[in-house]
Amino acid sequence: MAFAGTGKIWMNGKLVEWKDATIHVASHVIHYGSGVFEGARVYDTPKGSAILRLDAHMKRLLASAKIYRMDSPYPQEQLEQAVLDTVQANGYKACYIRPLMYRGYHALGVNPLPCPVDVAIMVWEWGTYLGADALEKGVDVCVSSWNRMAPNTFPSLSKTSGNYANAALIRMEAESNGYAEGIALDTFGFVSEGSGENIFLVRDGAIYTPPLSASILPGITRDMVIQVAQDLGYRVSQENIPREMLYIADEVFFVGTAVEITPVRSVDKIKVGDGRRGPVTEKIQRTFLGTISGEVPDRHGWLTYVPETVAAGSKKR
Ligand SMILES: Cc1ncc(COP(=O)(O)O)c(C=O)c1O
Repeated sequence: MAFAGTGKIWMNGKLVEWKDATIHVASHVIHYGSGVFEGARVYDTPKGSAILRLDAHMKRLLASAKIYRMDSPYPQEQLEQAVLDTVQANGYKACYIRPLMYRGYHALGVNPLPCPVDVAIMVWEWGTYLGADALEKGVDVCVSSWNRMAPNTFPSLSKTSGNYANAALIRMEAESNGYAEGIALDTFGFVSEGSGENIFLVRDGAIYTPPLSASILPGITRDMVIQVAQDLGYRVSQENIPREMLYIADEVFFVGTAVEITPVRSVDKIKVGDGRRGPVTEKIQRTFLGTISGEVPDRHGWLTYVPETVAAGSKKR
């Protein structure tokens, strides 16, 4: 869906009009992918709009930056406030949030250190990522011919703009071949993740997900799903998963801010289980979606409510 092209974007401490949120073509990030970013969501709940895991997203943003020797001009609390201000200023009850910290305009040597660290936060309305029916009916996916990055090449624990060149290859290939998404293996041949989501498998009542060492992004939804599954009494094992486990699992599902919890109904045209959302996926989905919609008590304090009153703008640098 194209952007509406309206609203306000937070740039280096000021809320500016959408059309004015521009950067120079000589900015370092455009040439070398030297940005780190986040994707979070605001949900419309009976108690008001709430941001899911605001603290965890800002913590990961700062961790992503630290790996690239990027000193954030703002501490975590100020970034959290800036997100709240941006959401309030745009007035959406529910939306997607994209904070971006990037190397800006100064020089174009590969070394980013001389360039300034700039920050922008934008929000827009973004519905289901893998199609309207995906949450219930599931999606058909393939194993990608592209691997995730090898360890000690592009750090997967950093949500870096440059890493998404790999994600785009996976996604383009999958869609060109008629699949909703691709699952990448790591360079050892173990299951890693989708182009923009983590993955879980269920077999004989136990739940499996690849470990951080399988070149995955440490997903915040992954973290919540592990917690929800454990709350429901399941054992969740983070261990290397051979490719063929995808074909013999009883259930497979993707998790992520964009896809929430989306069942996978086939992999490489091999039906997963009965070829529809399985009972474990449904149970976890129900608790997770209930929590974020405010219908189930937020027992882990995952929701940050957006105050009703519109703030005057956040502090400048
Ligand atoms: C490559 C990749 N893996 C996993 C995820 C899921 O992470 P999260 O649950 O924090 O959105 C995302 C989305 O940000 C992603 O881009």
